[in-house]
Amino acid sequence: MRRQYGEVGLVESDLPAEPIALFNSWLADAAANEIVVEANAMVLSTVTSDGPSSRTVLLKDLTQEGFTFFTNYGSNKAKAIADNSNVSLLFPWYAMERQVIILGSAKKISRKDSEAYFATRPRTSQIGAWASEQSTQLSSRDELEKKFKEFEAKFPENSTIPTPPTWGGYVVNPKSIEFWQGRYSRLHDRIQYVRDESSNWQRRRLNP
Ligand SMILES: Cc1cc2nc3c(=O)[nH]c(=O)nc-3n(C[C@H](O)[C@H](O)[C@H](O)COP(=O)(O)O)c2cc1C
Repeated sequence: MRRQYGEVGLVESDLPAEPIALFNSWLADAAANEIVVEANAMVLSTVTSDGPSSRTVLLKDLTQEGFTFFTNYGSNKAKAIADNSNVSLLFPWYAMERQVIILGSAKKISRKDSEAYFATRPRTSQIGAWASEQSTQLSSRDELEKKFKEFEAKFPENSTIPTPPTWGGYVVNPKSIEFWQGRYSRLHDRIQYVRDESSNWQRRRLNP
């Protein structure tokens, strides 16, 4: 498992003053890399008084406002966000010796934006969203398959499937974004962008 990491590092003079542009170029690198699977997969961690929990979700949009993913508003993660909107997102691009960690605050996106994205999903995924009461207990796999078939029958073919009321997006507005690049002798590069009180990005280098 131990190996020497990259020769190419993060040099302050090459880096943009704000992190979204850098993130986009790293995401594009990951998407273009054949070894990286699901380049837009990110580990979303939440924390409540019961403790932390983590799960993978897919990044579906990125603007200056933040990182958007879609899920079930009745799920465990949604309950955790309602309790404490402070979350972390982690992109594990191990094959590229890279990691990005985002700390920020999650909030629901508009119904209109959720509906616009839902409309682009494959029909089977749309029906799946209706069939799954995400994070609740099932008696069997059959119960889920049966519910899928029920909703399949409910929505006539070629009809528009409405967005389930319990389904939608969140946007995570970043407070800090850290870029980690593996380097030789475990002298890895860590560049963290942090928002100051005026919402401007400040950049600093951290010990590896
Ligand atoms: C590669 C991958 C991508 C996933 N993408 C999503 C996603 O975009 N939205 C989602 O709700 N769950 C997604 N999941 C499933 C979640 O990891 C998780 O099982 C589910 O959302 C329930 O989490 P919760 O009970 O903590 O709310 C994905 C899982 C994997 C492995």
